[in-house]
Amino acid sequence: MTDALYNDDIDLSPIFDLKLALVGYGNHGRSHALCLRDSGARNIRIALRPGSPSRAKAEADGFEVVTLAEAAGWADAVALLAADEAHRQIWDTEIAPNRKPGQALIVCHGFSVHYDLIKPPADCDVILAAAKGPGGAVRQEFEKGKGLIGFWAVHQDASGRAREIALAYLAGIGSGNVGIFPTTFREETVSDLFGEQVVLVGGMVALAKASFDRLVAAGVSERMAYIDCVHEIKYLADLIQSRGIAGMYKAISDTAEFGAREIEDRIAGPELRKVFDDAMVDIESDRFARKWVETYEAGEAMVADRDADEALKIEEAGRDLRSRLYGASK
Ligand SMILES: NC(=O)c1ccc[n+]([C@@H]2O[C@H](COP(=O)([O-])OP(=O)(O)OC[C@H]3O[C@@H](n4cnc5c(N)ncnc54)[C@H](OP(=O)(O)O)[C@@H]3O)[C@@H](O)[C@H]2O)c1
Repeated sequence: MTDALYNDDIDLSPIFDLKLALVGYGNHGRSHALCLRDSGARNIRIALRPGSPSRAKAEADGFEVVTLAEAAGWADAVALLAADEAHRQIWDTEIAPNRKPGQALIVCHGFSVHYDLIKPPADCDVILAAAKGPGGAVRQEFEKGKGLIGFWAVHQDASGRAREIALAYLAGIGSGNVGIFPTTFREETVSDLFGEQVVLVGGMVALAKASFDRLVAAGVSERMAYIDCVHEIKYLADLIQSRGIAGMYKAISDTAEFGAREIEDRIAGPELRKVFDDAMVDIESDRFARKWVETYEAGEAMVADRDADEALKIEEAGRDLRSRLYGASK
């Protein structure tokens, strides 16, 4: 991968004195703020909504907390690290009306920019600085002297400095230790949504629920079914992450490998590929994005689904297993 950049290729100084407002202090917001400060960024403020449960944490970490409107009027760059579905509301009501001219916008997922949910004016650098993985891992890896693989893209370069800000920001959160690659807002957004929908979240949960039900219908206890179809996912995921698919196959029993090879193509048959095609159509158009943001803005999104999940047998079996393995509190 010859197009990767590392710390030695990157000038960190663009972030040292930049007035940087981080909107949101969740998984990514907190990790970015702590890492950027440790990397030399001296001018960070955290922008939170009124009554935010994250205020105490940000203040305990030593950051000045401001309102979103104050941040918009103060910052040279706003890193919008709030939930994607809230970006349109935040931009339209807080950032756009109060924004300092020439202020840059940084996002760590391309969603709201790619789908035109927010429309930054021409004087705005629009930068993607995506450390690929969950926010908590950004900080954990940084503390080990590493980082998450970074991807950068520039949607608008009003100042002529968008690329250097993107690279300095990503190096500041540790990605320069492991590699920073160019991408586009489209590629990052489509790939991220597709991966989480069909494999990492939607696909995995669908397989887990359907296989649990089938084993229980075959007379297997819920505990055993849960262990074989859910609990052990982590061991296989760890093997794939550390050794690849071929390495995972070498590490497991020949019986498991033979059985998997017998069924792999049948699982990924025409019906599944049609599901993938339909998901891709919804993602590549803005159908999925609009539906999600409209659902969020209507309020109470997914509350009933979350309650219904809690009552499932698969969840009961999981709670019971976790309480035995890790104690009652988990
Ligand atoms: N590059 C990657 O691989 C990757 C991976 C995961 C996530 N991400 C991106 O990281 C960003 C943040 O994700 P996260 O995992 O850090 O989310 P998170 O932990 O859920 O944190 C979300 C933050 O957004 C704030 N927020 C939500 N609605 C808001 C509103 N209406 N007004 C103001 N603030 C609001 C929350 O404020 P309160 O604290 O007040 O509740 C919270 O601080 C998203 O863009 C996401 O797509 C990128």
